[in-house]
Amino acid sequence: MPVQWSPAHCGGAWVISGYDEVAGALRDPRFSVRRAARWINSGLGEHADKPAHTAAQRRFKRIFSRSLLFLDGRAHRRLRSILHLGFKPAALEHQRDAIAALAGQLIADILADDDARQGYDFVTRFARPLPALVIATLMGLPERVPDAFIGWAADLAGFIGSPTPDAAQTVAAQAALEALCDYFEEVLRQPQDLPPHCLLADIVQARQRDALTQVEVLAQCSTLLFAGYETTRNLLGNGLLALLRHPAQWTALKSQPQALRGAVREMLRYDSPVQYTGRRLLADITLDGQPLRRGDLAILHIGQANHDARRFSDPARFDIARDQGMHLSFGQGAHVCLGAALTQMEAEIAFTALMQAMPTLALSTEAPSWQPAGAYRALQRLPLVFQE
Ligand code: HEM
Repeated sequence: MPVQWSPAHCGGAWVISGYDEVAGALRDPRFSVRRAARWINSGLGEHADKPAHTAAQRRFKRIFSRSLLFLDGRAHRRLRSILHLGFKPAALEHQRDAIAALAGQLIADILADDDARQGYDFVTRFARPLPALVIATLMGLPERVPDAFIGWAADLAGFIGSPTPDAAQTVAAQAALEALCDYFEEVLRQPQDLPPHCLLADIVQARQRDALTQVEVLAQCSTLLFAGYETTRNLLGNGLLALLRHPAQWTALKSQPQALRGAVREMLRYDSPVQYTGRRLLADITLDGQPLRRGDLAILHIGQANHDARRFSDPARFDIARDQGMHLSFGQGAHVCLGAALTQMEAEIAFTALMQAMPTLALSTEAPSWQPAGAYRALQRLPLVFQE
């Protein structure tokens, strides 16, 4: 069923899972992205707006809902036009060597570690740290992201990624966002220390000409750091798992590096890092014969749309040579992923480096483990070994 009602998402939502239906909804302005404050209130449940919590909750809602991810129309276009400068092809190309160096260093650290040479967890040693370091570099953070960042990102992902966030997840996300904002406020106190061409410098300049408010600055900084990390790590982990579960394709790729671009596209389709996103209906509409009402929540299920047999033949088959057009993993329309080119470049650099330096990688007998199902399709652990 391409469109059906599910009571399991945030107290009830339309789950849209057909390829054409999801693509259409992503491009349709009647499907609004403005849903942050209600989302937080539903997560807090009976704790919402209790006097003891209101100041912190108000700040959480204000910052969270000023992310470009949760704004429509002009407000969204204004913020996107500021952020997109740092994602232009020339700006990304400028970072290519730096990203290759970061990937190379992580691999060298693993190979220099006698324990890791017996086997290692890919998620901890590579899939998590690489995207965190890359987005930090692109943003121009003077030092590496603080160690606590991975914990903050996990707490935000626990809230954003849960179909029905509970009060504990919501409060943890609130604390994580507060910590991220404190961190950025500290960094932005010394704008002269930022490198000249970086995302934070673009944001600081826009702030100086009053193109965005301080709350908007904090919301976009947190969004970038989080969005750059939480998604790419899943592409690296899920993608490598798919390759190693299909050893003939892993072997073929090692001898045909030119096939890597298509392979990354198939990894994104086959096991989509972001499984779904949400929208709130601004008007009554009928979709696939179903009556969707103004105010209803819609879950646009990207992961299922990418497995729609009407669009991709034999969709459960992983095939790096598949040539059937674009998946929906980066969304579409006004909110299409700003980091798509970055993440594809990062994945190509990472898989090239892994194939060259670790050609005998294989799955360990210890099974991979997954985080609880939700918006993010995320491995907890991916144990690997080197084959003799
Ligand atoms: C595998 C990696 C990635 C995936 C699967 C992914 C997926 C997505 C999706 C599905 C959306 C649209 C959400 C919606 O319409 O509600 C989105 C938006 C966005 N992504 Fe990504 N993303 C990835 C990597 C990145 C990276 C590396 C960055 C860099 C910071 C990034 C930054 C953003 C931003 C800023 C938006 C909001 C765009 C807007 O609202 O106009 N993403 N991403």
